[in-house]
Amino acid sequence: MAQNRTQQPKGPRGGRNFEKPKNARKTLVRLLSYVTKRKTLLALIVLLVVISALVNVYGTYLLTPIINKIAELLDNGSTDLAPIIRMLVGLAAIYAVGAAAQYIQARLMVSLAQGTLHNLRHDLFEHLQTLPIGFYDAHTHGELMSIFTNDVDTVREAVSQGLIQIISSSIMVVGIFLMMLYISPALTCLIVLMLVIMLAIIKTIGKQSAKYFRLQQAGIGAVNGYIEELIEGLKVVKVFGREAKATAEFGERNEKYRLAATNAQTFASVLMPIMGNLSYFNFAITAAVGAFIILSLKGQTPGAGLGLFTGGLAGALTIGSLASFLQYTRQFSNPITQVSQQFNSLLAALAGAERIFAVIDAEPETDDGYVTLVNVIENADGTLTETPERTGHWAWKHPHSADGSVTYTSLKGDVRFHDVTFSYNGKKTVLNNISLYAKPGQKIAFVGSTGAGKTTITNLINRFYDVQQGKITYDGINVKKIRKDDLRRSLAMVLQDTHLFTGTVEDNIRYGKLDATHEEVVRAAKLANADSFITRLPEGYNTVLTGDGGNLSQGQRQLLAIARAAVADPPVLILDEATSSIDTRTERLIEKGMDKLMEGKTVFVIAHRLSTVRNANAIMVLENGEIIEKGDHDDLLAAGGKYYKLYTGQFELS
Ligand SMILES: Nc1ncnc2c1ncn2[C@@H]1O[C@H](COP(=O)(O)OP(=O)(O)OP(=O)(O)O)[C@@H](O)[C@H]1O
Ligand SMILES: [Mg+2]
Repeated sequence: MAQNRTQQPKGPRGGRNFEKPKNARKTLVRLLSYVTKRKTLLALIVLLVVISALVNVYGTYLLTPIINKIAELLDNGSTDLAPIIRMLVGLAAIYAVGAAAQYIQARLMVSLAQGTLHNLRHDLFEHLQTLPIGFYDAHTHGELMSIFTNDVDTVREAVSQGLIQIISSSIMVVGIFLMMLYISPALTCLIVLMLVIMLAIIKTIGKQSAKYFRLQQAGIGAVNGYIEELIEGLKVVKVFGREAKATAEFGERNEKYRLAATNAQTFASVLMPIMGNLSYFNFAITAAVGAFIILSLKGQTPGAGLGLFTGGLAGALTIGSLASFLQYTRQFSNPITQVSQQFNSLLAALAGAERIFAVIDAEPETDDGYVTLVNVIENADGTLTETPERTGHWAWKHPHSADGSVTYTSLKGDVRFHDVTFSYNGKKTVLNNISLYAKPGQKIAFVGSTGAGKTTITNLINRFYDVQQGKITYDGINVKKIRKDDLRRSLAMVLQDTHLFTGTVEDNIRYGKLDATHEEVVRAAKLANADSFITRLPEGYNTVLTGDGGNLSQGQRQLLAIARAAVADPPVLILDEATSSIDTRTERLIEKGMDKLMEGKTVFVIAHRLSTVRNANAIMVLENGEIIEKGDHDDLLAAGGKYYKLYTGQFELS
């Protein structure tokens, strides 16, 4: 996983800017469909953005009459400030409207953005639950976590800031440009020329820095990947005393990252001062040219000569309109750089959104099963009648499309494999021609070396994967016809790697049957012999487990997993190395409980420890996906084959 990350680093924002979405338009439209779910709210926000942008543009223009008035007063030597105060009050009122609009818009935007993300996360999570196990084989959980955190976060940024900024900046740019033309086309030409030069500089520097940003991105990926791998493997590092080596290796990556980041950041940070200085220079030149125009026009009749070019539709350039114009020049470059920045983060967000949508679009686990599990009552003549009541007597309801009839078969737990051949990826055959049967109430054991295919067999019974050749039947029905939910409800599995959720011990056991009473939970825990250690925990059944039950021993975790299967109490039980971490003494202790748990159930047991499987009705010895021996303990010992060797210790497992 860490390896994977290093190859596809997902660095911080700076680096992400260079990620390009594959189909930007399609993704944008789809992302917008999330944003536009609350149409009125969005319309209101856009309206407020337009108002505050226009206020901004218009407010600046209002400087013109004010300054002209001041100049006039200065010329006249008058001290009547009343008109100026009136204008200032007007200006303040307009800006107050702008500020209010911005304030309300910001608050509404938070609500819109958070709502959008809430929906996006919901869809993503909901879809994840429907995906087949195969999807999780192809995607590491680090990858999926990164989609939930990094990608959703970039989308949040773009939605909460980018969209509004782009709308507002575009209005500002157009508005300011029009106002500048209105005041003075000549000065506007000058500004545009300067801007072209500035953009050229930004582009040159940007090209240079792109290389370093990419290196920086790779650097942060390498550093993060290494940290993650080492923290996961911390115990191994300590066991072999490799702390110094780890630190040295980390140091190398850290140094590489520092160099790349320094270069990238240098470019980024010199850009701002260069631009800042250039814009002052800009300002000074415009001011000088503007002043020159005003002075040279003094005394001329308005509209004469180059009047319209220098003075625009607003009339001849005055000291007031020059002040407004200069203010515009300061404001003009801001939205332009903002839009270009937002554009980058929008692209990054679209790339993120694309990954989110790819998961949402991933093919869900298909289920064409039509045989369902229903409650029935048995009639006097032995036939079954479906009932909505909970009778505890379950049957498979099998509708036949040919003649429209429905048959009911009692749920017994008869599982058979008929010449099953299976491969995870279509390349390597993992199971080859497996045939076996487990009659209701029988205990079937699988033994064999690591990687022989034992877990795979159980994965097929509950249809985590579907077989490619041959078939598996459950009570005589092909499992492919059974609805997955119902099939899985009829099986309880203790998986090879136990997983406990954050929550109390009781909640974790109850996961097997959500409506189990406290008494049922305790009974299940007693069956699994977990009760004695649970009652010794500080809070007993209410002890909160965190981090996958990190505060318990491996064996205790397995006991809880067994209790969880016990509380579900279905007719078929699959135990994949369920007692591998439990000491032999405790194992003997729970044996009785386990025997009770297994009573009347079809049980598949996988165990490396052969003492666990001795009393099975049939033991299958698997090797390379094939059953090489089968029979009960005594048969197999007498046969003197692989099992004999395993049992007598002549042959080591694994
Ligand atoms: N999700 C998967 N995708 C591809 N191949 C897999 C997958 N899971 C297991 N395999 C392969 O299938 C083979 C059988 O694996 P399986 O997990 O069934 O072994 P096992 O007998 O349970 O071994 P162990 O005793 O170590 O648990 C192995 O070669 C393994 O590499
Ligand atoms: Mg296994």
